[in-house]
Amino acid sequence: MKIKKAVFPVGGLGTRFLPATKASPKEMLPVVDKPLIQYAVKEAIDAGCDEIIFITGRGKRAIMDHFDVSVELEVQLEAAGKFDQLEEIRDIMPEYVTAMGIRQSRPLGLGHAVYCARKVIGDEPFAVLLADDMIYGGRNPVLSQMTDLFDKVQSSIVAVEEVDPSETHKYGIVRITDVDGRTGKIQEIVEKPLPEHAPSNLGVVGRYILTPEIFGILENLPKGLGGEIQLTDAIAQLMKTQDVYSYAYRGKRYDCGSKLGYLAATVEYGVNHKDLGEDFKVYLKEFVESMDE
Ligand code: UTP
Repeated sequence: MKIKKAVFPVGGLGTRFLPATKASPKEMLPVVDKPLIQYAVKEAIDAGCDEIIFITGRGKRAIMDHFDVSVELEVQLEAAGKFDQLEEIRDIMPEYVTAMGIRQSRPLGLGHAVYCARKVIGDEPFAVLLADDMIYGGRNPVLSQMTDLFDKVQSSIVAVEEVDPSETHKYGIVRITDVDGRTGKIQEIVEKPLPEHAPSNLGVVGRYILTPEIFGILENLPKGLGGEIQLTDAIAQLMKTQDVYSYAYRGKRYDCGSKLGYLAATVEYGVNHKDLGEDFKVYLKEFVESMDE
């Protein structure tokens, strides 16, 4: 089986990024010149996905509009001879890719958001990407690394990274065995444990490949931490009947759901931007020097 469908839960409230996220979704925050969600959708398409499923909440229309064809804008850009921009706009969504939105009636948790995709996914494995975890993977983006692994194991895979032991309460934390290079078999997964209760410091980040059996589990799952339907709890159940692998990805992650992570991503993507990079580096250097004065 190949991974063709990618689910993007974008129904969260984004409270850490208020007031910017009061009326518009955090996934539409731009890093340099593209919204967060566009980077994540490109990562999914590059990994072979051709069906994009947004699980949306209130005020998320901007996301659907961003991936829709804007005939009016295209006509205007063409008439103005702005062909570079026209190409950029058309490149957002290749024609062979389909996108759809499913409304999550209330933000009942990440597990609930994933459950909302069950009818569209049906009986096949699929990817879940959290766009606010922006991960630079260079030539081999993280989801491609994971689909390569999936080709071999045909089981669920959760992306992980080592986190500061004092920060385990911000992540799902896993305990693994059978470590082989970057992969391991998850034996235990706990949502946001306090450091003294954490089984390790391996934190789950926003990339998953899941088998469809997860839906049967989510259907009957009681509320977990924070009164939310937790994807972590569903994965813990899935592990009772199937192997679930951890994958320590190659790449650099920016937590763009937090203001500091978002600023770091903006600076580093700015420095590496093909048109702006050089000028931005000069500016940054001068600015940093001026701070020392
Ligand atoms: P977060 O834990 O980051 O929550 O959700 P949040 O509401 O988006 O942001 P904060 O913590 O209040 O600042 C993880 C991911 O799950 C999605 C979010 O959009 C985010 O991508 N999510 C969360 C949903 O789609 N629905 C939910 O009910 C909850």
